[in-house]
Amino acid sequence: MLPGASMTDPIALLVHDHRRMEGMLDELLHAKASDRGHLLADVADALAAHVALEEEHFYPAVRARRTEDILLESLEEHLSLKRVMHDLLAMGTSDDRWEAKMHVLKEQAEHHHKEEEEHLFPKVQKLFDAIRLAELGATMTTALDALHAERPRARIFGGTKEAARLSAPDVEPLSQRV
Ligand SMILES: [Fe+2]
Ligand SMILES: [Fe+2]
Repeated sequence: MLPGASMTDPIALLVHDHRRMEGMLDELLHAKASDRGHLLADVADALAAHVALEEEHFYPAVRARRTEDILLESLEEHLSLKRVMHDLLAMGTSDDRWEAKMHVLKEQAEHHHKEEEEHLFPKVQKLFDAIRLAELGATMTTALDALHAERPRARIFGGTKEAARLSAPDVEPLSQRV
């Protein structure tokens, strides 16, 4: 976690995961060819777990009139990230297009993280009660551990047809501040 961040702050959890993935992508781009395969598998797991955490827990919980547009756009960006990652996993690290596609993945991931951090997260902090967010954060911490345990990269292969929906079974939107 970030220094001083609460373990149950869902936004700190997601921001920490963004920096971790950006570090992994950077390492992968500078790795020697023989390390690319296992580093790519690690990045695919991290990306698949993060996207699933947002799509199955965070986004449905913070759905509101003032967040809906950005959440729908974010789901389309997730679809695009999954498609590029799918191509990379299928392509083989010695393909001469591999490095170009890796740059696209890194640029798209950084753009998406910036959008969430600059536009979505401040809205969420304004609209929802800190106690409700902390409860959501506790659920998300447990869910992220479970996702990492299941080698989530396999989810990418089933997730490239269309964007995920904004609602999820068993997740009610958080009540907003009055
Ligand atoms: Fe995110
Ligand atoms: Fe996201």
